[in-house]
Amino acid sequence: MVRVTGMCMVVLAAGLIVGCTETEPADEGPEETAAVSEIEGLTVDSNWDTRATGEAVTRYVLKNSSGMTAVLIDHGATLIGLEVPDRDGNSADIVLGFDRVEPYTGASPYMGATVGRYANRIALGKFSLDGEDYTLATNNDPNHLHGGDVGFDKVMWEGEPIEVDDGVGVRFRYVSEDGEEGYPGNLRMTVTYTLGATNELRIEYEAETDAATHVNLTHHSYFNLAGATSGSTILDHVLTIAAASYTPGDETFIPTGEIAPVEGTPLDFRTPYAIGDRIASVEGGYDHNFVLDSQDGTLSLAAKVVHPGTGRVMEILTTEPGLQFYTGNFLDGTLTGKGGTVYERNFGFCLEAQKYPDTPNKPGFPTSVLRPGETYRQTTIHRFSTE
Ligand code: GLA
Repeated sequence: MVRVTGMCMVVLAAGLIVGCTETEPADEGPEETAAVSEIEGLTVDSNWDTRATGEAVTRYVLKNSSGMTAVLIDHGATLIGLEVPDRDGNSADIVLGFDRVEPYTGASPYMGATVGRYANRIALGKFSLDGEDYTLATNNDPNHLHGGDVGFDKVMWEGEPIEVDDGVGVRFRYVSEDGEEGYPGNLRMTVTYTLGATNELRIEYEAETDAATHVNLTHHSYFNLAGATSGSTILDHVLTIAAASYTPGDETFIPTGEIAPVEGTPLDFRTPYAIGDRIASVEGGYDHNFVLDSQDGTLSLAAKVVHPGTGRVMEILTTEPGLQFYTGNFLDGTLTGKGGTVYERNFGFCLEAQKYPDTPNKPGFPTSVLRPGETYRQTTIHRFSTE
């Protein structure tokens, strides 16, 4: 069976491949289908797996000439794999995740997903906008978290392979309807992942609405630069965050509204520290929103992480004003991921570029309101190198 979808020809039976530029990589995934694309460096498998709801899940494999591979699926516009070379040129997958779609549709704590409509928490699941009161799911009792019961991490996006100047990518589209998860306005979105020749994974977001709403999108990968199947924690990774202040929160992680200096606290990563150095003095582990030094919306360096053992380095550049640093504190050995790896506490860290938590209820925070006629835009880049 041959199916032509947009820019991509997908051949679902071995032996019928015409114009193939890539062959299916060795795969522990569920389906044994051949997959091709007309774009060099991009493989599309339109039948990688099937959700319990019956939809086929498409997998996109992006490769560059410098040893990097990014693997994405349309469920949740999720990054399910990211192979990055170490200082000796050996590539390893450095994002936690699963070999099949099923955990991503259920138990996964947002691994690799696109999160929204409002990433992070909204106090008690309530906000008022232009005099109207809105009530959202309190799926992180007593608060609203990451878009609600069925956030953008749990919906099917429509993927389209793309070619850019220095690489390949996938553009995902989703329309979140007025009232979905309680939010006002039909929100039309694109999330575009591109992999460039210089080992940058670029994520660009755009959104437009037909009624005033709040928008806060983020990417929720759990990174372990030693390798997702290394079986080690991220406590030896050395982190720098370009933030002189943060938003202190209450015991349910809702900001008090204060912008406090990091100076003199274990949150001071303005100079590099191993993540584990001071984590014992942070109750529950790190799960904090940092107020980035750059607040003007220009693409700026927000964080740098070095893994001394392998020499892998990840820098994050973003246009966003905030960065949530989370050390996988809720991973507790109950999830088994790629290659049978059991995800224990601190096996991955997240650095989520975002607006500040609970902005809809915090007039003093940079606004998250999007109105008709405006376009929400975010660019976040994950740049890899070695040292
Ligand atoms: C974010 C939050 C954490 C946690 C994770 C998902 O990083 O800040 O508190 O909810 O997502 O488990």
